[in-house]
Amino acid sequence: MTVERVTTGIAGLDDMLRGGLLRGSATLVEGAPGTGKSTLGMQFIYHGAAEADEPGLILTFETFPRQYYRDADNFGWDFKALEAANKLRVVMTSPEVSRADLQHVNGQIEDMAQQIGARRVLVDSLSHFERLAADPIELRQVVYEFINGLKRMGLTAMLTRENATLLGETPDIEEDLAFVVDGYILLRYVELSSAVRRALLVLKLRGSDHAKDIRQYEITGRGFEVRAKFEGQQGIMSGSPVSTAAEAFVQAFGRKK
Ligand SMILES: Nc1ncnc2c1ncn2[C@@H]1O[C@H](COP(=O)(O)OP(=O)(O)O)[C@@H](O)[C@H]1O
Ligand SMILES: [Mg+2]
Repeated sequence: MTVERVTTGIAGLDDMLRGGLLRGSATLVEGAPGTGKSTLGMQFIYHGAAEADEPGLILTFETFPRQYYRDADNFGWDFKALEAANKLRVVMTSPEVSRADLQHVNGQIEDMAQQIGARRVLVDSLSHFERLAADPIELRQVVYEFINGLKRMGLTAMLTRENATLLGETPDIEEDLAFVVDGYILLRYVELSSAVRRALLVLKLRGSDHAKDIRQYEITGRGFEVRAKFEGQQGIMSGSPVSTAAEAFVQAFGRKK
């Protein structure tokens, strides 16, 4: 049986995902501030609504919708037009409200999803859920239920999470939210020969094969662009011994169990 793929619209990433995310799955995108989590998420939503006939919902807990329109404009994505065409809704809410909302049928989020026939959702960001539960196990349960609520609506979800680690090691993911999501994408800053680069790793994609290597990516005026894998980039990093550069990447993603 082949699983239906939901393209992100980012060619290099879809390639790493062997075609895209799995229909109805939930994917965590984690990285430090400025790594491009919101950009990646907005592109996923834009591509769906504008190019794949899949309307989308953006749930935000801190950034005003106006800011998304501005940021999207910056990449040439007309969110205003999509909203007017009933292909997009940007909703500012709180974790408390959205959590309660998803606990019963016909909540506001579900209403809105139905109005536009939403197939995709971006939750930006999950970090705000941390105030709902101090205990990590309890937090995981809260997030698990929230994600299941989104899945019941038939949405393919991308959820961002802020990670305080700017450079260097990844915190232990035992007991972590990574267990309640189907996909897990890490974004990192990597310091190479005193220049900061961006690196991406698909750590997990439940039910599918995926690229295991670390790729460089950039954010340009067109959005998120995944470049060749690290091995292919040696020429660019002239002056930096390969072993040192490779170590930097390994260090950036930490040691996985
Ligand atoms: N038009 C653009 N060209 C190049 N880079 C951009 C452009 N617009 C935003 N960026 C970069 O995108 C990053 C912000 O990404 P964002 O998705 O907001 O990150 P996060 O959500 O992870 O905090 C910034 O580092 C900024 O430099
Ligand atoms: Mg953001």
